[in-house]
Amino acid sequence: MSDSLSRRTFLTAGLTGITAIAAVLTGCTTEQRPQDRPSTGDRTPKTPDPETTTIPGTRVLLVYFSRAGENYYYRGRRDLEVGNTEVLAGMISDRIDCVTYEIEAAEPYPDAYDPTVERNRREQQDDARPGMSNPLPDVSGFDIVLLGSPVWGSRAPMIMSTFIDGVDLAGKTILPFVTYAVSGMSGIDNDYRDALPDSEVRDGLAVQGETVTEAAPGLDAWLNANNLV
Ligand SMILES: Cc1cc2nc3c(=O)[nH]c(=O)nc-3n(C[C@H](O)[C@H](O)[C@H](O)COP(=O)(O)O)c2cc1C
Repeated sequence: MSDSLSRRTFLTAGLTGITAIAAVLTGCTTEQRPQDRPSTGDRTPKTPDPETTTIPGTRVLLVYFSRAGENYYYRGRRDLEVGNTEVLAGMISDRIDCVTYEIEAAEPYPDAYDPTVERNRREQQDDARPGMSNPLPDVSGFDIVLLGSPVWGSRAPMIMSTFIDGVDLAGKTILPFVTYAVSGMSGIDNDYRDALPDSEVRDGLAVQGETVTEAAPGLDAWLNANNLV
């Protein structure tokens, strides 16, 4: 594994429109930060490659789910080319040594806001576990797992539960982070505490999606408080 892969490494999955890239590893350079990458509608099925799901010497796994498209914004609507949580994940991966893993829905959420709200409402009501299109990562080599998502219906999207149920996070330190429109953390860190009784879930970071690009001071303080910088 090259030096460039052992630092700030992205475990990209479906971000670049390349087929079969579930586990393409690229150095997390400026060109490849999530906010710089074009949004893509490519949902070509990915081929798992377990060989590349861990990087020796890297202890921090940054996991996030994010949805580009129409979203709530200043009591109106706005089309996001890159999801707010993805932008925040990129800011984090710029600051710490980590492997980044994006959770992708097997059935992509609509671009439109209202049908997404409706689907999420049903999934919450059914306590659903929406399928993922990318293979779960091998988390065994990581001590710290950052878990990022938007706030949906005052909770994490149910696909975060799909991820949590699918991997063994016992004994690991969990750092939740969310982006939201109005409701802040919404107790999502406590939800993770309930779901992960054998993990140490720290207090999370909540960033308003509209101001995500201005999140650096709060982000730095949170990373510092958790000894990541
Ligand atoms: C289905 C859905 C439900 C949402 N529910 C909430 C909510 O309960 N509280 C809130 O503050 N924002 C809510 N939002 C707004 C998002 O949390 C916010 O725009 C977030 O930054 C989006 O992140 P993303 O672009 O990474 O998906 C919701 C958005 C969607 C699409």
